[in-house]
Amino acid sequence: MKTPEPHILVIFGASGDLTKRKLIPALFELYAQKLLPEKFAVLGVSRTEISDQVFRDKMGEFLPASSQNNPAIAQFKETLFYQSLNTSDATDYPRLKARLEILGNELSIPANFIFYLSTPPQMYPVIPRILAEAGLNDVSQGFRRLIIEKPFGTDLASARELNRNLLSFYKEEQLYRIDHYLGKETVQNMLVTRFSNGIFEPIWNHNFIHHIEITSAETLGVEDRGGYYDHSGALRDMVQNHLMQLVGYVAMEPPVVIEANAIRNEMLKVFQSMRPIREADVASQVFRGQYTQSHIGNELIPGYREEKEVDPQSRTETYVAFKFFIDNFRWAGVPFYIRTGKKLPTRVTEVVIYFKTTPHHLFQYQSDLEPVNNQLVLRIQPDEGVLLKIGMKVPGAGFKVQNMNMDFHYTELSGTYLPSAYSRLLLDCMQGDATLYSRSDAVEKAWEYVQPILDAWQNNPDIPIYGYPAGTWGPESVENMIEDGSWRKPCKNLSHDGEYCEL
Ligand code: BG6
Repeated sequence: MKTPEPHILVIFGASGDLTKRKLIPALFELYAQKLLPEKFAVLGVSRTEISDQVFRDKMGEFLPASSQNNPAIAQFKETLFYQSLNTSDATDYPRLKARLEILGNELSIPANFIFYLSTPPQMYPVIPRILAEAGLNDVSQGFRRLIIEKPFGTDLASARELNRNLLSFYKEEQLYRIDHYLGKETVQNMLVTRFSNGIFEPIWNHNFIHHIEITSAETLGVEDRGGYYDHSGALRDMVQNHLMQLVGYVAMEPPVVIEANAIRNEMLKVFQSMRPIREADVASQVFRGQYTQSHIGNELIPGYREEKEVDPQSRTETYVAFKFFIDNFRWAGVPFYIRTGKKLPTRVTEVVIYFKTTPHHLFQYQSDLEPVNNQLVLRIQPDEGVLLKIGMKVPGAGFKVQNMNMDFHYTELSGTYLPSAYSRLLLDCMQGDATLYSRSDAVEKAWEYVQPILDAWQNNPDIPIYGYPAGTWGPESVENMIEDGSWRKPCKNLSHDGEYCEL
């Protein structure tokens, strides 16, 4: 693998949670794998005045306990530096510029910079503008890239405004909008499963596929993010970004080459082909829910409205499910079902392809309850892998058929290094590869799709929001929304399913 060019990675919001929990461990992972350039530095930027040494010690606490005696930790910490800055004050930025120059000279690093915005979203229009005014967007001196965390806007208008703002100072190819789902190995594997296997692609269309189900379930509630979440909700937090990316990967046409713009063009076409859900149809087509207090074992689980910093009258959805169609040649008439929620029975993200049954049913099935269609489960997490359900003969007299599992689990690939989503994405940006980052037009298109749903909920508070007891599979009203079928009840283990399994 090509090592990235020497550069300095500047992290704005260096004292924040994301930096400690995700970015620094991901950078250490890259360091330990010898994937970082030899000449490399991280400059943490935040308001608090602390020394490089204090920053190193603080970050060190978030490196894996199992590696604490590894000499690589001490060497890695040497690459970390810190600069205090009032990030909203343009007059403070010359200090940043000077520090970058000093670091560059001391460490012989050319003026290649990546700026990572791990800050509250209010700073997204501010920091890039001030950096540009200070000349730090100027690519004539070296590469200048900007990584932006989600949320990328809170609705269509704000996303457009943010794009306009950024694109007035930076070229699209300098912008890396992160969606950590695209960094997941198993999400990328969806493209490989589809486009490297002669057996799947010919049947990946309306002729053979009955419907597709996409689930992203979490056991966690809003934890200490109630303040943020209550203004967001599941549609903005999960569907507009992560789940739309999954839709893109499962439904796109084969890209001409595996290259950023080729893949992103295909992603955009999927979003353009999704049949809009009109505001007037939201009440009947989109189901929203909110978790309510319940007992799980002996534990009393608080409802969403009892969570910290959540409005006790809140009508923010912690669950959403809907059916949609993709109006193009490949997918005409195939229903797609999406659901996501917090405080569900297990943590699982997966895409299930339900194939049509044989045209004529020759055999007797083992049980009336047994579904007769083949299913291909692309498990994103946990127990990452692929599961194919196929009919097999029950041994003995007659021709009884039973659904059996053929499964592959990533854990079987022992010895293979599976990078975390953040380390993969950081490395890609360092190499100038934006394939796994979202492009401005696709981000706007995804917002355009969810906007009528947001509008309907905003303009018509009478649209019901259904309660579901924490720890259950969501509101009762969604149980029967799949025509000729039902939602899969996934378990922790990929090849188990049903009501009685380990969650
Ligand atoms: C984040 C959301 O983007 O994704 C969180 O803001 C959610 O609310 C998280 O919990 C889910 O990510 P993962 O990787 O745990 O599926």
